[in-house]
Amino acid sequence: MMDNTPATIALERSPTDRRGRPLRDLRISVMDRCNFRCPYCMPRERFHEHYAFLKTAERLSFDEIVRLTRLFTPMGVRKLRITGGEPLLRVNLSDLIADLTAIDGVEDIAMTTNGVLLGKYAYELKAAGLSRVTVSLDSLDQDIFARMNGGFGRVAEVLDGIAHARDARLGPIKINAVIQRGVNDEGALDLVERFRGTGVTVRFIEYMDVGNRNDWREQLVVPSKDLHARIHARWPLRAVRPDYVGEVARRYAFEDGQGEVGFISSVTQPFCGACSRARLSSDGAFYTCLFAQTGMDLRGPMRAGADDATLTRLIRGNWSAREDHYSEQRMILRARHESQNKVEMNYIGG
Ligand code: GTP
Ligand code: 5AD
Ligand code: SF4
Ligand code: SF4
Repeated sequence: MMDNTPATIALERSPTDRRGRPLRDLRISVMDRCNFRCPYCMPRERFHEHYAFLKTAERLSFDEIVRLTRLFTPMGVRKLRITGGEPLLRVNLSDLIADLTAIDGVEDIAMTTNGVLLGKYAYELKAAGLSRVTVSLDSLDQDIFARMNGGFGRVAEVLDGIAHARDARLGPIKINAVIQRGVNDEGALDLVERFRGTGVTVRFIEYMDVGNRNDWREQLVVPSKDLHARIHARWPLRAVRPDYVGEVARRYAFEDGQGEVGFISSVTQPFCGACSRARLSSDGAFYTCLFAQTGMDLRGPMRAGADDATLTRLIRGNWSAREDHYSEQRMILRARHESQNKVEMNYIGG
């Protein structure tokens, strides 16, 4: 018989936060290490050879990730995104993907990667059930590319990774390009030109003040509207309706039918209003915002023997109390020096 006590009903309903936002996306960081050192994410001086990355036992195991994901789907999570650091540095990642694919309610599993290892893994990831990949690529110019990733890898390797992902049908493939004024903004149109007509969508991301170590300054941000104007002048664009409520990127189609570009403008046009994204760090903390200062530890209780109902209650309680809207408050918080001690990006992906 169904138990219809108020407590049970409250546990079954999808939680909404204090701003009325449901929980729909779970972004899972599986690896805090990366084979790049992008200065805007993991600057080389801070993430040096003696940096204390997590020990293997400190990272959530695949079984723990799967267990938590099974608790998230009844709360409304439908989309998963596997992130890092670099997720493809996690050994046997396809095994995790296969287990996540089998979970009831999971409709879409995407991955964000720097692409270098995609050539090696694209087919096995597809076979395991990965739906699609988003590849970070900031420039097609080898020197600028190297400057933007701390001197590792080659553009050709990333392009080869993208080609393998296409062959393996890990699409729709998206490219994420973080744009910094005076560094790679001049090459933005080259990226558009390279991928127009290929079915791969380029998205330009405004440089953000994630973490505490990237020395962010507003002057380095190129507002999306400026970039849009430059692209539109060369290849006329028209706005496309969002694919889903709260879509992060504003999308535009080329008038000549050669595909789309997107703009992720968290600095000049924040999108916190419909943010339904939660993040699970590689060491098992639950974060309700990319810019959060603290996360709620789930690994501790889980390893101490907490049952599913207890973990569910913790997660629901945390989401229900959520008020985050950092991107809308960025300038005020920064002026008040209240934006320090944010979680570092390599623990929670983008
Ligand atoms: P799909 O639309 O499902 O393909 O995914 P997405 O656009 O949400 O995912 P993706 O991880 O590719 O997001 C692109 C980039 O946008 C990330 O790398 C972050 O830099 C940024 N981003 C994603 N989610 C958020 C968010 O909630 N807040 C802010 N400020 N930035 C975000
Ligand atoms: N600002 C904007 N985007 C960032 N990313 C990493 N750091 C930043 C930042 N400071 C993006 C990368 C990648 C994803 C993991 O997050 O480009 O696509
Ligand atoms: Fe690695 Fe991506 Fe961060 Fe660059 S942005 S250091 S590729 S995790
Ligand atoms: Fe969501 Fe925080 Fe990003 Fe706003 S800043 S969209 S609340 S993750």
